[in-house]
Amino acid sequence: MTGNSGPQRFVLFGHPVSHSWSPFIHGMFARQFDHVVDYKVQDVTPAGFRHAVINFFVEGGSGANVTLPHKPAAAEIVNELSARAERARAVNTIVRRSATELYGENTDGVGLVTDLMRNLGVTVGGARLLILGAGGATRGVLAPLLEQEPREVRIANRTPERARQLAEEFSDLGDISASGFDAVEDRPWDIVINATAASLAGEVPELPPRAVGRDTVCYDMAYGRGDTAFMRWAAGRGSQRAYKGWGMLVEQAAESYLLWHGVRPETKPVMGALDRH
Ligand code: ATR
Repeated sequence: MTGNSGPQRFVLFGHPVSHSWSPFIHGMFARQFDHVVDYKVQDVTPAGFRHAVINFFVEGGSGANVTLPHKPAAAEIVNELSARAERARAVNTIVRRSATELYGENTDGVGLVTDLMRNLGVTVGGARLLILGAGGATRGVLAPLLEQEPREVRIANRTPERARQLAEEFSDLGDISASGFDAVEDRPWDIVINATAASLAGEVPELPPRAVGRDTVCYDMAYGRGDTAFMRWAAGRGSQRAYKGWGMLVEQAAESYLLWHGVRPETKPVMGALDRH
């Protein structure tokens, strides 16, 4: 396909990126099929991103993943966008059609929905869903969540105006409203998804006290060793079902793998291995 000998080459572009689990995840996927793939990370600054992508594909690279802060820039570089990536205005997976023809997809939202529904047994259809944050992380997952037809979606953000803009942009896909954290209805939501960058700093948005109850599914799109600040906060509010974004990470990777190789790997063994680490 590339004319080059040796394994197919894949790369994850990010900044920073050195602590990514993606090479480990894709390595485990490849072994399921006896595929020989070379998946590396490449730390590249925003100023060098475009050049790095073009170089990689001109030199025969087969596919790329893109993580923070390059996802919006990747959407500008590819020649063709999936409908989801176009809505998200962000690309996390680039598929090489030819050296000069790159296709961009966003698998984050499907990864989240698959983790919620298939792995965690959460029903999104008909649910009252509260999303915290109105940045790129929220934009990336809104369309696949709305496809499941939740009863109601509220986007709550520290800066309510950003939430309002996002709600308006996706209003054709479902019942979606916006507010600040303090104006969120003070009764248990079915699902609360944390898509703010606050968790990374150990902070948690200030929601009304009863917005989370015993049966509220609390999902932090962030992850790290141990429980996140949001998970601890949710447990403190009585939620019996607080999760972090490990499963989303593995499921979005499986969707990328499917796009590149035409087969979808088993994700359970990989999640088990990540847990053991
Ligand atoms: P990303 O692409 O990761 O979503 P972003 O576009 O910078 O990054 O958005 C970050 C989100 O986290 C925003 O919703 C931001 O709120 P504002 O729009 O008000 O800036 C939210 N955020 C970041 N730090 C936060 C904090 N300490 N408390 C609450 N929300 C926070």
